[in-house]
Amino acid sequence: MITLDYKNLFQISEKHGLTEKELEKYKNSTPQYLKNIKSLNQGFYKVFSENNTIKDIQKFAQEKNKFKDIVVLGIGGSALGTICLKKAFSHLFQERTPRVHILDNIDPTIFAEIEDILNYEKTLFIVVTKSGETPETLSQYFYFYKKIKEKKLAPQEHFVFITDPTQGLLRKISIEENITTFPVPMNIGGRFSVLTAVGLLPAAFMGIDIEKLLIGAEKMARNFLNEDFEQNLPFQIALIQYLLAQKGKNITVMMPYAQKLYSFADWYCQLLAESIGKKLNNDKKEIFVGLTPVKSLGVTDQHSQLQLYNEGPFDKLIIFLEVENFGQEITIPNVYPEKKEFQFLKNISFKKLLQTEKKATEQALTKNNRPNITIKIPELNEENLGSLFMLFEASIAFLGEFFNINAFDQPGVELGKILTKEMLK
Ligand code: PA5
Repeated sequence: MITLDYKNLFQISEKHGLTEKELEKYKNSTPQYLKNIKSLNQGFYKVFSENNTIKDIQKFAQEKNKFKDIVVLGIGGSALGTICLKKAFSHLFQERTPRVHILDNIDPTIFAEIEDILNYEKTLFIVVTKSGETPETLSQYFYFYKKIKEKKLAPQEHFVFITDPTQGLLRKISIEENITTFPVPMNIGGRFSVLTAVGLLPAAFMGIDIEKLLIGAEKMARNFLNEDFEQNLPFQIALIQYLLAQKGKNITVMMPYAQKLYSFADWYCQLLAESIGKKLNNDKKEIFVGLTPVKSLGVTDQHSQLQLYNEGPFDKLIIFLEVENFGQEITIPNVYPEKKEFQFLKNISFKKLLQTEKKATEQALTKNNRPNITIKIPELNEENLGSLFMLFEASIAFLGEFFNINAFDQPGVELGKILTKEMLK
């Protein structure tokens, strides 16, 4: 079970941490905030009821197992969850078959260099765009569509789309070209869509157990819908972020102590930035709020960012992700038994060293009055990652309510899209 430990917040000065009393004030308000969220009619916490899509996804991935390369075309919420899934469950140094590539940029180098490895006859493209109108994704699609045509291959065989069930340019093309298309439910936005076909279809090609991802998500969704403060982890996280923001902690550092969760921090950066960074509140008043996300990796960034976190401005909350069991017990060999100064490493495992360093970092931050909390994950598997996605999606929903903003739109992103189109006209 995923747990949250926030007791360090009480160990630091009231100016920079929190008191039980401050939390107490909100303990009975979970039902009210939940009621508000439910009235928004968002679908992210009901994804598992889309069971039909799951079977279709599994069937499709099975039927297409002849492909050697799967290329995902998409950006932002249409790519970051998939990247996270790939990094979490694939070998760090070996590629499996089919190879899954995620192109979330339009740097021309990508198009030139992917050419070097693709055999189009054995390549399937998954085009992911909720709106069906994003210029980056459409231009990628046009590029590879032309390649497929030039090779005299059938687009229906080499493309699959994931887009809005009824609207957008890609939906239109899917009908004209007769291309298999999976829906992104209308009430689930890009950055909340990792547990829909957006993340699940590529995940199925990666050999990930997508049913387990959803089981984990559903467990956490039950947590989210629990009106009891003590049971509601998403509410607790959001409340901590919100109360600390009132004390000037406007930066959230997401710091997994697990190599394979590094991209989870990327996924979370988008979720937090795009959902909470808003000019207007729900009453259309200018408030310019937001929490700046920062991605950090334990232990690597202890030797890079940690100096700043310990001694720099008092403007951060650090969220540690701690994995309890790595499934690997590798002992550090004692190759110089005669050297006393190395003996502190004698017979300890890499896991022990990593976890001790995490503890030391946590203690140092606490001593320096730097708020930090820890989310403990028993092990990195599909169920727990599903829970983790849901935990933070749901916490964002509460955070939106605390700040009285719409956490589910992104007018700032849309403006960039509109201006690009105007400039290119
Ligand atoms: O969260 C969001 O809505 C955005 O980040 C989108 O995911 C991103 O802009 C891509 O949009 P689309 O999926 O419509 O191509």
